[in-house]
Parts: sequence; structure tokens; C-alpha cells
Amino acid sequence: MGTLDGTTSLVTGASRGLGRAIARKLAAEGSLVAVHYGTNEPAAQDVVARITEAGGAAFAVGARLGVAGDAERLWAAMDTALAERGARPGVDVLVNNAGIGGATPNLSDARPDDFDELFAINVKAPFFVVQRGLDRLRDGGRIVNISSLSSRIATPDVLAYAMTKGAINIFSTTLAQELGSRGITVNAVLPGVTATEANVAWFAAQPAIRDIVAGMSALRRVGEPADVADVVAFLASPAARWVTGQVIDATGGAFLGLSVGGAPPAA
Ligand SMILES: NC(=O)c1ccc[n+]([C@@H]2O[C@H](COP(=O)([O-])OP(=O)(O)OC[C@H]3O[C@@H](n4cnc5c(N)ncnc54)[C@H](OP(=O)(O)O)[C@@H]3O)[C@@H](O)[C@H]2O)c1
Repeated sequence: MGTLDGTTSLVTGASRGLGRAIARKLAAEGSLVAVHYGTNEPAAQDVVARITEAGGAAFAVGARLGVAGDAERLWAAMDTALAERGARPGVDVLVNNAGIGGATPNLSDARPDDFDELFAINVKAPFFVVQRGLDRLRDGGRIVNISSLSSRIATPDVLAYAMTKGAINIFSTTLAQELGSRGITVNAVLPGVTATEANVAWFAAQPAIRDIVAGMSALRRVGEPADVADVVAFLASPAARWVTGQVIDATGGAFLGLSVGGAPPAA
């Protein structure tokens, strides 16, 4: 028996990275999971195969986000896929995870087109996926939006990206107020630098980075995708029914505080 038996979930950007771990965890808890992808269908099908091998149920849905008509295409693909499986229409859990970091989103180098693309994929797409999905999302359901540590601390190297995640935080809080009357909870999960494929490649190219990242966390290690997926699964579960409108930090306590190795001299 899983905590999500009998439910249906949609995880955007589940062909790799955090989304893949979230999809696998929700499926392990008994949910029928739609593994969304943008371009990489083989990767999404591989996630589906792994879930199925592990005894879960999943299917892939493709839709490029951040372009005109994206939300409509995504929900149309969901409707078709559920109908083809003979599954009842609608979803219980929506995880808005798909996102990009952008090429050069700091103040000096950001170009208007890059800025627009970041906001189109990271902010506009989740907004309209929710808007166009309201009639598919069942009462008592869950929305989990994936934010970032960059929305809690100042990260000038990724300023525009950080701004998109700040938008996700207030989107989550406000949506929670709006959808509460339907019993739908809405929360954001805020990961720090996590050992996804892209970041593992970064650590391999620059080994010192892993230690720096581990040192940011009170728990002194780099987070794994499963660390974040477990938090999402909790928020999706009945046990989290009384938690809504929150930005849940899943960074292992990154930048919690500072120890300088001693107390200041007595005044
Ligand atoms: N990794 C971290 O350390 C970290 C830290 C904090 C927050 N986050 C956030 O966590 C989320 C996932 O990050 P990640 O690092 O796991 O990402 P990732 O490994 O780069 O994977 C991104 C996923 O999103 C999909 N995607 C990207 N752009 C898309 C588009 N335009 N249309 C449709 N799908 C699109 C990709 O699908 P295809 O490959 O099929 O196109 C892929 O499945 C993002 O919101 C990110 O901002 C990540």
C-alpha cells in the first residue's frame, strides 16, 4: 500500500534530473504518473520503463513549454493518454518541475530574449498549466511547484533565474489561498544545488565545486534528487493535508548560519 494509491500525477520535466526522481517516487507510492518531457522522448520512455519494471504505472506525455499554446497541448496530451489507458480523466497531483537555468542570466550579460525565455518556461508555463488544468485537477488535490535556493539568498550570477523562482514562491502562496476552498493544497519546494546529471558533470569537470556545495549545507553534503523527491512525495501525500501556501526548504540547511570558531571577546 502506497500513500498515493489510486491517484494520478503529472510531473513536468520528468525525463531527467529532479523531475525523474519525483516521478519515480510518486509512482513508488502508488500513483499513476505522467512523465512529461519537452524534447527527449526516449529519456521519458526510459523513466516509464524503470517505473514499470519496479512495479509502478506510468506513461510519457510530450509538450514543449514556454511557447504559445503549451498548456493546452500538454493537457490535451494528458487527456488522450489517460483515455487510451482507460484511466479516469483528471489528476490529483500536479508537480510543476520543468525549468531552465538560462545561459547568461546575470545583470551585465542577460539579453532580453534570454530573459523572456526564462520567464516563459519557468513562470508563464506553470501559471497557464495550472489555469488550463483547473478543471482537470480534482478537489482535494495537490500542486507542488519547484523553486530554488536562489530565491532565498542573493545569487547575482543567476539573477534572472532567481527572479523566476521568486515568482514561483508567491505564485504558490497565492494559489494556495485561491484553491483552498476546493481542498487543494499548493506548496513550493526549494532545492539547493542537487546532484542531477548536469550538476554531477559540473562536479566532474571542477571537483572543488562539490566540496564548496557540500560546505554550504548544515548537513555537509550535496543533496541527491531523491532527497528532494521525498519532500515532494510528502507534500503530495494525505499526511500533508494541513500544509499549504508554504515554501519548503529542501537544501539540507544551506546557508543556515555561520560559525567563526569562537565567541566574541567580552565587552
Ligand atoms: N538541479 C538543481 O540543482 C536544482 C536546484 C534548484 C532548483 N532546481 C529546479 O528544479 C527543476 C528541475 O531542474 P533539473 O536540474 O532537474 O533540470 P534538468 O535536469 O535540466 O531537466 C529539465 C527537465 O525539464 C524539461 N524541460 C526543460 N525545458 C523545457 C521546455 N521548454 N519545455 C518542456 N520541458 C522542458 C526537460 O525536458 P527535455 O529534456 O525532454 O526537453 C527535462 O525533463 C527546475 O525547475 C530547476 O529550476 C534545480
